Amino acid sequence: MARLSVNVDHVATLRKARGGKTPDPVMAAAIAEINGADGITVHLREDRRHIQDRDVFLLKNTVKTCLNLEMAATKEMLSIALEVKPDMVTLVPEKRAELTTEGGLDVKTSPEPLKNIVATLKEAGIHVNLFIDPNIEAVKSAHRIGPTGVEIHTGRYADAKAVDKEAEFKRLSDAVALSGKLGLATHAGHGLDYHNIAEVAALSEIDEFAIGFSIVARSVFSGFEEAVREMKRLIVSSRS
Ligand code: PXP
Repeated sequence: MARLSVNVDHVATLRKARGGKTPDPVMAAAIAEINGADGITVHLREDRRHIQDRDVFLLKNTVKTCLNLEMAATKEMLSIALEVKPDMVTLVPEKRAELTTEGGLDVKTSPEPLKNIVATLKEAGIHVNLFIDPNIEAVKSAHRIGPTGVEIHTGRYADAKAVDKEAEFKRLSDAVALSGKLGLATHAGHGLDYHNIAEVAALSEIDEFAIGFSIVARSVFSGFEEAVREMKRLIVSSRS
């Protein structure tokens, strides 16, 4: 059964807008779990623009399902991850000026630093995913680095215009199929919403979806509980 990991970064973005204590992403995580989330994802960015260190430490103590920490492959983040010990780390590229994570990791040109970080996290008992672009070469290069799994970037498919949709879906499904064949835990995320999730969730090799923005955006109109439940329902029904 495919899992839904709810990304609560955007709850923290709203909190940041007024610089106060609410809405609290830790509370959102608990509500998401009660309403069917199989995991909670947060991205601790270098500039701390939304999720704060306090959130990650509290979530470690409150999340009952699976805590996935998205982070850049830096010394600072590695030491935080080793202290927090989340269930899972997803290594992502990070640029300060970007609105959100724009592309997958460069797993080809300099794999050595990534190899070291992956090995260190795995030794600490943490599952490690590499966030990669949806192409065959990236899956092969990522596999050589030795992670537990990969998270395949669905953003290009999600953003593609109608004429390009089929080609982007083919790229995505080829990458997903290879990842499954290589025995990697196969995750997918970025830009997934209530309209495109059914097509992507029908790819049976995908073990888990990381979804944030669309759920928090919908919650403004339908409530957070209902937004999580509906996304989970779409994922489950696309597999039955
Ligand atoms: N996966 C990764 C690696 C991400 O960086 C993000 C965005 O924070 C997501 C999944 C979730 O994307 P979205 O917020 O578009 O659902």
